[in-house]
Amino acid sequence: STPAAWSDADAYLADLLVGHDLDLEAALAAQRDAGLPAIEVAPVSGKLLNLIARFSGARRVLEIGTLGGYSTIWLARAVGPEGRVVTVEAEGDNAAVARASIDAAGVGDRVDIRIGRGADVLPTLVGGFDLVFIDADKESNTIYLDWAARLGHPGTVVVLDNIGREGEIVREDSTDPKVIGTRDGLRMLGEDPRFDATALQTVGAKGWDGVAVALVV
Ligand code: DHB
Ligand code: MG
Repeated sequence: STPAAWSDADAYLADLLVGHDLDLEAALAAQRDAGLPAIEVAPVSGKLLNLIARFSGARRVLEIGTLGGYSTIWLARAVGPEGRVVTVEAEGDNAAVARASIDAAGVGDRVDIRIGRGADVLPTLVGGFDLVFIDADKESNTIYLDWAARLGHPGTVVVLDNIGREGEIVREDSTDPKVIGTRDGLRMLGEDPRFDATALQTVGAKGWDGVAVALVV
């Protein structure tokens, strides 16, 4: 098994289960053309977010880390016309790309993009979120998880991206701030009584990584 095989199998699954989607493909093209990094979730993972939101009946979704709006579109589709997604993005240039793609996808009226660092924006939000997707700077994962619990309610679903990091999570001596932040977030999910959580490693188009899924109890 090699990363190329993971990627081929991922493309096969996406072809069968996700299919072509002009609005999402346009969002990826716009993001690439604007020079944003290709670190959005894979298509199968975007659809997983969409399904988790629908399984849980989420109507108010908080996303931390908009990037070019790819996952935002998946989430906005899940909440329905009366639902709302608040998405927090530190980079104004990213937010502009996301705004255009989200509007072009026809879900602009459901999406409120807040520009600023999470640590500054999150304290200004009104709570009641049913699902929180955390996919931003890994160094701040514990801050974001704390706000997810505070802005959620018992039953809120929390999804934390990038928990595998090519297996680096077991490197206790790592000095990589992203690895340290990921490990800190996972430890919080295990220890903080506000959460009940598990995590799944993934291989695919984005290499070896994974997601944690938690319930606010
Ligand atoms: C990185 C961030 C992500 O959210 C991701 O999905 C992959 C990589 C990064 O910062 O390296
Ligand atoms: Mg990510």
